[in-house]
This record gives sequence, structure tokens and C-alpha cells, in this order.
Amino acid sequence: MPKHIVRLLVLLASFGALALLAKWYFTADSFYELGHYRAASVPEIAAQEPVYQTPRYCQTCHSERHAQWSANSHKTVICEVCHGAAQGHPQNGKLPIPSDTVKLCTLCHEAMPGRPRTQPQIEVAQHSAGQQCIVCHNPHAPKIAGAAVKVAGDAAAGQQRAAACAGCHGAQGISPNDTWPNLAGQHAAYLARILGAYKSGAQKDVAMTPIAQPLTDADVRNLAAYYGSLSCKAAPSETHAGDAAAGKTLAKNCAACHGETGVASNPAWPKLAGQKAGYLMNVLKAFRAGLRKDPMMAGVTRSLSDADIANLAAYYAGQSCQPTMEGRKTP
Ligand code: HEC
Ligand code: HEC
Ligand code: HEC
Ligand code: HEC
Ligand code: HEC
Ligand code: HEC
Repeated sequence: MPKHIVRLLVLLASFGALALLAKWYFTADSFYELGHYRAASVPEIAAQEPVYQTPRYCQTCHSERHAQWSANSHKTVICEVCHGAAQGHPQNGKLPIPSDTVKLCTLCHEAMPGRPRTQPQIEVAQHSAGQQCIVCHNPHAPKIAGAAVKVAGDAAAGQQRAAACAGCHGAQGISPNDTWPNLAGQHAAYLARILGAYKSGAQKDVAMTPIAQPLTDADVRNLAAYYGSLSCKAAPSETHAGDAAAGKTLAKNCAACHGETGVASNPAWPKLAGQKAGYLMNVLKAFRAGLRKDPMMAGVTRSLSDADIANLAAYYAGQSCQPTMEGRKTP
């Protein structure tokens, strides 16, 4: 046989041997049992540990958080959507807490043309003014709700009881000095809540605590109804150190809750418009120092300077306390 034919046959034979070797090496033993499937992959996948647990898994250790979450509107957003897969937690360490909530929350809440209307949406730039969403929203209970809004009080009975308050808050609910608050025309729901807080001791003040403690629940409702019904019109109070124009710019951060001009959209929250500047300054400093406690106000006052506070106070004190057409939507 010619030499070149032999070489060709040897080459073909070695290709054949290589192909057989490759086939032997690359095919799984189970290949011929179940046709073209790697049959072993089914039990292999089944044996893997699940990467995601379920909210029920978290419940055993984080029961308080779980209870809060499951009672609120985010109960359809499972924990691991925000905290990442919990495989190996807690043995292998803590789960991450999302730090950039603007990025996280806008994934689902940024207003978009195609997004179904049923999912609550916001115009991010207008709505949060660059602040983190958790300054105002609790991620586990995001709804910002008004407390009970209707106050079933008897204003006439409240008027009787209010004789004890006139010395400091004025006969018509307009206080005689700059550091005591006006009550006239304030939202009754807010007045009832804050008087209740003085009564229970949740909020303390040297002047108010001894006065509020003996009030009955009915007194609180009646007084709230009475002061809420009075006209908030007052002579413009003294001139203020702060710069109202600078305050107006800062007040954009407060508008979501207190309205553009301090006439709150939500009756459970206080109106600020026309309030005494000295009082507003004292209260803002008390929130900033943590002496007066409110989770929403703590977040927004943390970064205010003394000058900011004076400017905000000057701005709100100079606003008309009557609701205006340009004000925020009323509920
Ligand atoms: C077996 C108990 C256990 C289970 C189940 C569990 N955790 Fe934890 N988790 C812990 C412990 C312990 C820590 C550490 C707490 C610490 O050091 O303050 C922790 C920490 C965390 C932290 C960080 C808290 C912080 O302050 O840094 C997050 C977030 C968290 N868990 C979320 C979850 C989520 C979500 C689930 C369910 C998918 C879950 N955990 C299930 C025990 C558990
Ligand atoms: C919509 C996103 C989101 C969901 C859903 C969510 N979390 Fe959180 N969670 C956060 C954010 C944001 C923080 C940080 C809050 C802060 O710093 O005030 C946090 C904080 C925590 C912390 C630690 C801080 C603390 O307040 O003690 C724990 C523990 C935790 N979450 C557990 C859970 C569990 C358990 C679930 C499910 C039942 C859950 N989270 C569902 C976003 C979420
Ligand atoms: C994975 C998507 C998703 C993420 C991430 C998410 N949400 Fe939501 N959120 C929803 C859905 C869905 C609803 C509506 C639930 C319903 O009404 O049934 C909702 C409801 C809300 C509501 C309205 C509550 C009400 O009842 O009116 C607020 C406020 C809110 N989310 C704020 C936040 C904030 C703040 C964050 C970030 C910490 C966040 N969401 C992250 C999906 C998400
Ligand atoms: C300065 C406080 C504040 C910040 C910061 C804030 N929110 Fe809100 N948000 C509110 C208030 C107040 C409401 C209720 C408004 C109302 O009832 O008119 C609300 C309502 C919502 C709603 C419900 C809207 C609806 O139509 O039901 C969503 C969703 C929401 N916010 C998401 C976010 C997200 C996402 C962020 C972060 C990018 C964020 N919020 C930051 C104060 C804030
Ligand atoms: C001795 C003076 C004094 C008397 C009398 C008094 N108050 Fe006050 N009240 C104050 C001062 C001062 C504050 C502000 C406390 C602070 O700075 O936190 C206040 C605050 C309040 C507030 C909270 C206002 C707000 O905007 O948050 C309410 C409501 C209130 N008083 C109702 C009453 C009622 C009702 C009575 C009568 C039963 C009464 N007060 C009697 C001095 C008084
Ligand atoms: C997310 C909602 C929210 C935002 C944003 C907010 N506030 Fe408030 N504010 C509240 C609530 C709720 C109260 C009532 C707190 C209480 O009951 O103690 C309050 C109370 C106050 C009070 C006390 C009023 C009184 O009569 O005693 C002042 C002053 C105030 N806010 C000013 C501001 C200023 C200034 C800003 C912006 C820098 C701001 N708030 C932003 C919700 C908010």
C-alpha cells in the first residue's frame, strides 16, 4: 500500500478514537436512560438549598418587624426584595439594610406612563426634594395616615372649660406673647391628640403638664372642638429676626406634611401658618434635641441650623392661617 494512504488511514483511525474518547468523557452515565436529558440534574437541583426563604422564616426571629410589616400595605413586598436573599442568614452574618432608599423605593414608585394606576406613584423630584424616603416613611409601614380625624366634641362645653386657659392662650385662643402658642383655628384632631399627649405624660411642659393632667377625655375633646372652631385671624405678630424669604425656600421640605404655606393638608397634623414665631422656634429646637418626640419631625429637624429655624419661624408666622385655593389638596 502506498505510504500516503497508510498515513491517511492512521489519521482517520485516530480521529475516530478521539471522538469515542470524547463521547465517553463528556456524556453522563444516565444519558441513555432518559433520552437526551441529563437525568441527574433533577435531583441535583432539588438538593440545592433555596436561596430565598420566605417572610415566615423571618417571623421566628424578627417577630415585631414581621407583625408591623404584615399589618401594612407593604405586605405584598416580601422582606428579601429589599434586604436581599437570606440564604445562610443569620449564621453567616447580618442581612444588608438598604442605605439608598431613593434608589430602592423609586424602583417601584416612580411615576411612569406604563405603570398600572393601582400601584401608588410619585413624581420623585417634587415629592421627596432629594431626601431619603425613610425620613418620612417607615419602610415596613409606609402609609402616612391621619389619626382619627373627626373629633366629636361639644364646643360650648369646651368654652366653659377654656376659662382656665385664657390667661396664657388668650380669651379667643390668640396668645398674648410670642412664645405661647395660638390655639384658635388649629385642627381639632391635632389639638385633641396633643392635649392627650400632655395628659398622659407622653409630652411634657412645665406650664401645660399640670393643667392637662386633671382633664377628662371628654374635656380634651370639648376643648379641641372649641379652639378648633375659633377664627385664627390675628394681628400680625412682632417683627422677627429670621429671614422669611430664606424660610420659604427651606419650607419646601415641609410642604408634603404642613402644606405650602403651613396650612396642613392632614387634620391630624398642626397648622403652622400664623403661629407665634418664638413658639415655632422653641418647638423646632425641642424636636431637634429630641426633647419633643415625633419620628417624622426628628428626621426633618436633625440637619437644621439655628439660623434655618429662625428663618422657618419667620416664614410661617407671616403666613395667613386661612386655607387658600393654592394650598395643597384637602383630604
Ligand atoms: C434564626 C433567627 C433569624 C432569622 C430566621 C432571621 N434573622 Fe435576621 N437577624 C438575626 C440576628 C441574630 C441578627 C443580628 C442582630 C444584631 O446583631 O443586632 C439579624 C440581623 C438582621 C438584619 C440586620 C439588622 C441590623 O440591625 O443590622 C436584617 C436586615 C435582618 N436580620 C433581616 C432578616 C430577614 C429579612 C429575615 C427573613 C428572610 C431574617 N432576618 C431572618 C436572626 C434571624
Ligand atoms: C420596602 C423595603 C423593605 C421591606 C419589604 C422590608 N424592609 Fe426591613 N428595612 C428596610 C429599610 C429601608 C430599613 C432601614 C430602616 C431605617 O434605617 O430606619 C430596614 C430595616 C430593617 C431591620 C433593621 C433595622 C431595624 O429597624 O431594626 C430589620 C431587622 C428588618 N428591616 C427586617 C425586615 C423584615 C423581617 C422584613 C419582612 C417582614 C422586612 N424588613 C421588610 C426596607 C424593607
Ligand atoms: C418591589 C416594589 C416596592 C418597593 C421596592 C417599595 N414599594 Fe412601596 N408599595 C409597593 C406596592 C405594590 C404598594 C401598594 C400596596 C397595596 O396598596 O396593596 C406600595 C405601597 C406604598 C405606599 C402607600 C401606602 C398606602 O397604603 O397608601 C407608600 C407610601 C410606599 N409604598 C412607600 C415606599 C417606600 C418609602 C419604599 C422604600 C423604602 C417602598 N415603598 C418600596 C411596592 C414597593
Ligand atoms: C418630606 C417627607 C416625605 C419624603 C422624604 C417622602 N415622602 Fe412619600 N409621602 C409623604 C407624605 C406626607 C405622603 C402622603 C401624601 C398625601 O396623603 O397627600 C406621602 C405619600 C407617598 C406615597 C403614596 C402616594 C399615593 O398616591 O398614595 C408614595 C408611594 C410615596 N409617598 C413614596 C415615597 C418615596 C418612594 C419616597 C422617596 C423617594 C418618598 N415617598 C419620600 C411624605 C414624604
Ligand atoms: C400657664 C400658662 C398656660 C396655661 C394656663 C395653659 N397653657 Fe397651654 N400651653 C402653654 C405653653 C407655654 C405651651 C407651649 C409648650 C411648649 O413650648 O411645648 C402650651 C401649649 C399648649 C398646646 C399645644 C399647642 C400646639 O400647637 O402644639 C395646647 C393644645 C394647649 N396648650 C392647650 C391648653 C388648654 C386647653 C389649656 C386650658 C385647659 C391650657 N393650654 C392652659 C401655656 C399654658
Ligand atoms: C412627614 C411629615 C412631616 C414633615 C415633612 C414635617 N413635619 Fe412638622 N410635624 C409633623 C407632625 C406629625 C407633627 C406633630 C408632632 C406631634 O404631635 O408632636 C409636626 C409638628 C410640627 C411643629 C409643632 C407645631 C405645634 O403647633 O406645636 C412644627 C413647628 C413643625 N412640625 C414644623 C415643621 C417644619 C419647619 C418642617 C420642615 C423643615 C416640618 N415640620 C416637616 C409632620 C411633619
